[in-house]
Amino acid sequence: MTAQPASANKFMTLERHIVEGERMHPNATGHLSSLLHSVSLAAKLIWREVTKAGLVNILGTTDRMNISGDVVKKLDEFADRTMYKTMDHSGDLCVMASEENEDILQIPDDYPQGKYVLIYDPLDGSGNIDANITIGTIFSVYARVSKSGMGTLEDVLQPGFKQVAAGYLLFGSSMMFVYCTGEGVHGFTLDPSVGEFLLSHENIRIPARGTIYSVNEGNSGRWEASMQRYIRYLKEEEKESGRPYSLRYIGSLVADVHRTLLYGGIYCYPGDVRNPNGKLRLMYENNPLAFLVEHAGGAASDGRRRILDIKPTSLHQRVPLFIGSREEVRLAGEFLAGTR
Ligand code: AHG
Ligand code: MN
Ligand code: MN
Repeated sequence: MTAQPASANKFMTLERHIVEGERMHPNATGHLSSLLHSVSLAAKLIWREVTKAGLVNILGTTDRMNISGDVVKKLDEFADRTMYKTMDHSGDLCVMASEENEDILQIPDDYPQGKYVLIYDPLDGSGNIDANITIGTIFSVYARVSKSGMGTLEDVLQPGFKQVAAGYLLFGSSMMFVYCTGEGVHGFTLDPSVGEFLLSHENIRIPARGTIYSVNEGNSGRWEASMQRYIRYLKEEEKESGRPYSLRYIGSLVADVHRTLLYGGIYCYPGDVRNPNGKLRLMYENNPLAFLVEHAGGAASDGRRRILDIKPTSLHQRVPLFIGSREEVRLAGEFLAGTR
């Protein structure tokens, strides 16, 4: 038989990618791989509901009956439950925390307790669902710090630099799974005809600079003067530095950060006089996205501190976010510090 020429398009499934990643760590127990497989299953289950959403007019309604007589949940409740139920019995986790729940989520007594902690925003950008605009799920994984038994709040409240993996699912014109276990950021696109995620964005690297800024400028009247000056600067005309920047704002953080990863630039959710810590949540949104963007060569700060260094004090803590290309995040910090 004659050898076939090497194909430019190698079919790398997510499953194979996870297994090959595990083989690079001879001491791996397989639990992280198993956890990532469970997330990919949850991704497909949530995607199935997302694609049906407009058809059955279930959005924005809870506890209504669907055609089969089942009680229909809002999509964010469905995503929340699906993440939990695909993960609770696997023996990979000792505790979870979800943006939709006030307290930590324990693993039921009758299931084995594992060594990892999963934190997630089940549906980010949920305000966009009814308009068929991209939404997503964000997740973050830590190793437990408690020795055994049920996981505790202490297991969950770890600084972001301790993450062992993070990623997001993107429900857009196609469905993507983007993840990082510390060795590159990789994106997979679901081929719905075979039900597999295929490697479509290998080793994503964010440009060191960009010409897009992304912020809810409707809040600008409440910003600190330094933030207002920074955005004014980005809008001034100066061809050599690529200014004026273009404004893009989807209003789904996960989608805005995905674009920023691919095209470069900066996404900001600053504090303002009404909400000094902004809107976004450290544990569910900022930390996992900061982990991914840093591993892709970018940066993330709250304007002063590196996001991943912040020691969390509560489960639903909010902190400002400046995330994207390294140069852009540095410049934003200079404006906020008043040194520019
Ligand atoms: P969630 O849907 O998980 O509550 O998050 C909404 C967040 C985030 O996705 C988005 O970037 C931000 O809210 C938009 O806020 P504004 O409407 O204030 O711009
Ligand atoms: Mn969110
Ligand atoms: Mn959410």
